[in-house]
Amino acid sequence: MKYSVDPDITKASTLPGSYYQDVEMYDRSKTGIFSKFWQYVGDAEEIKSPGFVCPKLLLPGFLDEPILLTRDLADQTHCISNVCTHRANLVAEQPGNERVLRCRYHGRKFELDGTFVSMPEFEQAKDFPSEKDNLPNIEMQSLGDLLLFTAFNPHVPFDEYLKPVMDRVGFMPMNEFQFDPSRSRDYLVDAHWALYCDNYLEGFHIPYVHSSLNEILDYGEYNTELFDYGNLQLGIAEGGELSFDLPKGHQDEGKEVAAYYYWLFPNLMLNFYPWGLSVNVVQPLAIGRTRVSFRTYVWKPELLDQGAGSGLDRVEREDEIVVESVARGLRSQNYDSGRFSPTREQGVHQFHRLLVEFG
Ligand code: FES
Ligand SMILES: [Fe+2]
Repeated sequence: MKYSVDPDITKASTLPGSYYQDVEMYDRSKTGIFSKFWQYVGDAEEIKSPGFVCPKLLLPGFLDEPILLTRDLADQTHCISNVCTHRANLVAEQPGNERVLRCRYHGRKFELDGTFVSMPEFEQAKDFPSEKDNLPNIEMQSLGDLLLFTAFNPHVPFDEYLKPVMDRVGFMPMNEFQFDPSRSRDYLVDAHWALYCDNYLEGFHIPYVHSSLNEILDYGEYNTELFDYGNLQLGIAEGGELSFDLPKGHQDEGKEVAAYYYWLFPNLMLNFYPWGLSVNVVQPLAIGRTRVSFRTYVWKPELLDQGAGSGLDRVEREDEIVVESVARGLRSQNYDSGRFSPTREQGVHQFHRLLVEFG
């Protein structure tokens, strides 16, 4: 590995600028990082009733993996490969309602769980059909019956991955959250995907970059807690600003929590506010180009325009400006790497350590 980051933040330097231009590392991260950690693939709503099928590309422009979300006739959900086991045509082309999947190239049929059903002109084929003729199943899990995730080669089980989040904010009835398309949108950023995460992973810049958010959060109380494959930035409200109504006995009882900002390695952000959840999915498109999808799931609509969870579009655009500025600065011949603030940049340090470990 050509990169290293000291485990001791007081001694460590950041990843060098060259990392963010390293095409080999960018390509390697597809299998080394992105296939090993859970990726958001869609909402349970998209396969709402038995017979629904919904083709997707996992991380379009990056992994480009054709997958198919289905709900079979027995009401079980599945994520299967959407690549025909004959000669690799894509099986389902459109979302729809099906009893059986039929490849339109040469007519091979599959059950909605991917099991091979039939194939014309194969009577003479020996040892056919075999296991290999089924569409491969990919593990799929859901967060609160709402968001669906898959991983091709999971490094940790989903429950373990999400445990630090659920232990803390599991009191919110996520099954009742409603997706709000009018408050959801994608942002395109001219920067390496990891730069977008670097910026998210510290609240250090809030007083400098986000003047409005800075009035809502108590910077002195802002705090980062690390766990194995992610971290929590706990945003505490300035006096009088909106905070969570926490259940009795909750570990944060007595604190005025304005926001729970969770980041899960490598590219998922789950931002919980008193009104609900803002999900940010950071998606690489090219080494210097990133799409960030903001998806809004509302629990208490009456709280939407208050506190740290309001004005998210403004905050995002403020972030985008600095992230793109850093992307240009990192290409300078006069910059190699920098040092971490031991009190304010623990999250970025952890991220760089994980990039090196899995890269
Ligand atoms: S590629 Fe699907 S039947 Fe031939
Ligand atoms: Fe920011």
